[in-house]
Amino acid sequence: MARISANRTFPEKGSLLPTNLSVSAWPSRRRSMAARLLKPIAVACAGSLSTITLLFITVKVDSDNTLKSQDLISSLCPQAEVLVPHINHELWSAVGEGMSTNDFKIIAIDWLSGAVQIETETYDDLGPVGEDPRWENRLLFHEYLENTFPLVHSALKLERINTYGLLYTWQGSNVSLKPSLLMAHFDVVPVNSDTLSEWAYPPYSGHFDGKLIWGRGSNDDKSGLISTIGAIEVLLRHGFQPTRTFVIAFGFDEEGGGLHGAKELADAMLNRYGQNSFAFIIDEGGGFSEQFGTVIATPGIAEKGSMNANIYLAAPGGHSSTPPEHTSIGILSALLVQLENHPFEVHIERGTSSYELLQCFAEHGATIPSTLRDAIKDSANSDDALQQVENILFKDPWFKSLIGTTQAVDVIRGGVKSNALPEQAWAIVNHRIATTSSVNATTKHDIDLFLPLAIEFGLEFSVFGEILYVPDAEMKGNLKFTTSVGLEPAPITPINSAQYQLLSGTIKATYNAHRALQGNNIVVGPGMPTGNTDTKYYWSLSEHIFRYKHHNGGSSNNPLSGAHTVNESFSVDSLLETIRFFVTLILNADESNEF
Ligand SMILES: *[C@@H]1O[C@H](CO)[C@@H](O)[C@H](O)[C@H]1NC(C)=O
Ligand SMILES: *[C@@H]1O[C@H](CO)[C@@H](O)[C@H](O)[C@H]1NC(C)=O
Ligand SMILES: *[C@@H]1O[C@H](CO)[C@@H](O)[C@H](O)[C@H]1NC(C)=O
Ligand SMILES: [Zn+2]
Repeated sequence: MARISANRTFPEKGSLLPTNLSVSAWPSRRRSMAARLLKPIAVACAGSLSTITLLFITVKVDSDNTLKSQDLISSLCPQAEVLVPHINHELWSAVGEGMSTNDFKIIAIDWLSGAVQIETETYDDLGPVGEDPRWENRLLFHEYLENTFPLVHSALKLERINTYGLLYTWQGSNVSLKPSLLMAHFDVVPVNSDTLSEWAYPPYSGHFDGKLIWGRGSNDDKSGLISTIGAIEVLLRHGFQPTRTFVIAFGFDEEGGGLHGAKELADAMLNRYGQNSFAFIIDEGGGFSEQFGTVIATPGIAEKGSMNANIYLAAPGGHSSTPPEHTSIGILSALLVQLENHPFEVHIERGTSSYELLQCFAEHGATIPSTLRDAIKDSANSDDALQQVENILFKDPWFKSLIGTTQAVDVIRGGVKSNALPEQAWAIVNHRIATTSSVNATTKHDIDLFLPLAIEFGLEFSVFGEILYVPDAEMKGNLKFTTSVGLEPAPITPINSAQYQLLSGTIKATYNAHRALQGNNIVVGPGMPTGNTDTKYYWSLSEHIFRYKHHNGGSSNNPLSGAHTVNESFSVDSLLETIRFFVTLILNADESNEF
């Protein structure tokens, strides 16, 4: 999963200030916010009606003609049944037994370890494919897959999209069934060479220490890729032939924004299959972990938007012995302080994935404090209770930042010499946009905050090259505002669908089978990964996009990860479970006639 750090913008190359300042009008090439955001929400609402009516107080007239409201329990976080393959039950059991052997464990370790050993770093300044030689290590990875997964490479059709993107088609026997799409990426974030000595094992060693496979990409996302292709290899070895077509798309520059990989892959699939042509899409994202004493899996059904605000100030230069009252740097500072003093208002809104997840915690969290539990439950129809939930949870600024639109002043530049007035200064503010907001609303928020200051400081203020304000009196400088990146929040994946049920049931079946358990041992609730995935290019291919890799994320006290940092590792136990998950998902999806 890509996270954006202070020193990197994504994904539009060359959009850094100040080169690109005067470009672009309003972001009109984006699809209308209404089309993007409202449609999926409307669909989700329409579809959820049956659930919603369950939730809201059912009022019934008793025999004595008094109105009594019934308690609303157990439906605020509806749970699917455990779903094991039926038609292919024997095959599924046989695969499961095979996967429990030590021989298979050794194979799986080798699969991931070998994948980690091929360096496939993505840099921010990579040139076009075909020109920049630093892409070429991707070919070694292709070769590795061909050698390691021979059955996949003989039974599936493979196309290379934009040289390095891998598009496999596993043709099903019934062409009238919508195909399912399994995604992953095989590039990794670079290892910071200053941190090499802090790694327990060298980052490209793929070292197995008896429990963990170590190295960059072992978690993000080579484990997802190897589990996907490994599951298919295993199914082929057991002679499985799908009824439904499965398409597998592996990107090669997710960590740089996916423009060369996922975007091209998505275009190719859109050309071939058309809009809404996939039954569902699954890509990297949430896993399961222990929360409030209960194991809960959180497939991502939403993703925040993102936007960089580029703020550029020009003011007359001159000798610093006779300065004006404010230099360009001083004014820029005032603008940034204005932003930080007016953060976006944050509310937990009913109907969002975060709200629905809270309901799951309230419903199923064994150790959730009772005040919080009651407030969450009551908030379904009490604004006061919802306020109380916010009061409790927003004490944690990290949680608050997950919910709302955020702002982070990440880059600032200005000035060249201690005795010269700075002729220009500029800054980049990175916003992550709440699922209930939009690029436009975020842009407007910033502009509304800057306009009064432009007036106060006597600046000409232009927005996307259009002049918004010109001072009557002497002009003290120029303020230019543009945005880049401009990614709307993702459409919300409906959770009242057969696809979500299938995924939930598969998660439960996998969890049980891996531990030889029966019954309900894991809760599934809607999640939202903090970063953006390659799925941002796939919105038009399916309404049912899940960001989920069935990996064990540990517990809130003891998170397991290392993704994007030192000591990235993945346990062999998690790897085996993730392979089992994809085996089960493929078989279940193949059997379903509900989509
Ligand atoms: C964004 O706002 C501008 C200016 O108000 C408007 O012209 C444009 O249509 C809006 N775009 C979307 C996607 O709503
Ligand atoms: C193929 O799938 C469609 C849609 O579910 C179904 O109606 C049809 O009977 C299937 N065809 C065969 C040969 O199974
Ligand atoms: C990485 O793991 C090694 C061995 O467990 C440990 O000594 C080191 O401190 C870890 N590095 C970081 C940055 O956590
Ligand atoms: Zn990733």
